[in-house]
Amino acid sequence: MKLFSTRTFAHLSILSFLIIAYACKKEVLDLTVPTPETTVQITDAELFELIESNNGYTYFEEGNTIKGVPPSPHGDFKLRFNSEAASVLNAEGIAPAGTVFPENSIIVKEILSGGSIALYAVMQKQPADVNTASGWIWGEYEADGKVLYGVDTKGSSCTGCHSENPNRDLTRVFDLH
Ligand code: HEC
Repeated sequence: MKLFSTRTFAHLSILSFLIIAYACKKEVLDLTVPTPETTVQITDAELFELIESNNGYTYFEEGNTIKGVPPSPHGDFKLRFNSEAASVLNAEGIAPAGTVFPENSIIVKEILSGGSIALYAVMQKQPADVNTASGWIWGEYEADGKVLYGVDTKGSSCTGCHSENPNRDLTRVFDLH
């Protein structure tokens, strides 16, 4: 006895093809659902650990002491760049206009008092961090790591001045020194 007519069999074949096609399509769709962007959240202590030692950093102007000029809120300082930040400096050690610092760049301003470090002002390029402000994490510490401006202040005391020069990714030193 014939269970299915040829026509029914054809219909069933088409139906199963459609079901499989739908299942595959669904799988493809599922794969394209965007995964949530991973956010990072560096703490004050973690940032301090990254800047405490000058190992692996390159000093601006060979580590000479530089005088802060208006509108600098600080006096004499030295400046250093980690390898990511240093990678975009030109042969003169300058970030040319239009420079965009790569992620994880760190710039440390060692603010001096009587020849020794009194404060560290820090910028870390971290656009995915929850505390990012204009792409950077901002922090200021005393020499022993005591926090003066925590990362969670989101650069509220910093970006006003630093935004005056969006030209070099918010850095100011290359225009003034
Ligand atoms: C009143 C303006 C002003 C404020 C506020 C300010 N800065 Fe600056 N900052 C400057 C200037 C100007 C320079 C360039 C170097 C110099 O002459 O001191 C500079 C340089 C720096 C540098 C070296 C990289 C660069 O931009 O050239 C870092 C790092 C830095 N500041 C961090 C901070 C942090 C962190 C804060 C907030 C806690 C802050 N700054 C607040 C004006 C300011």
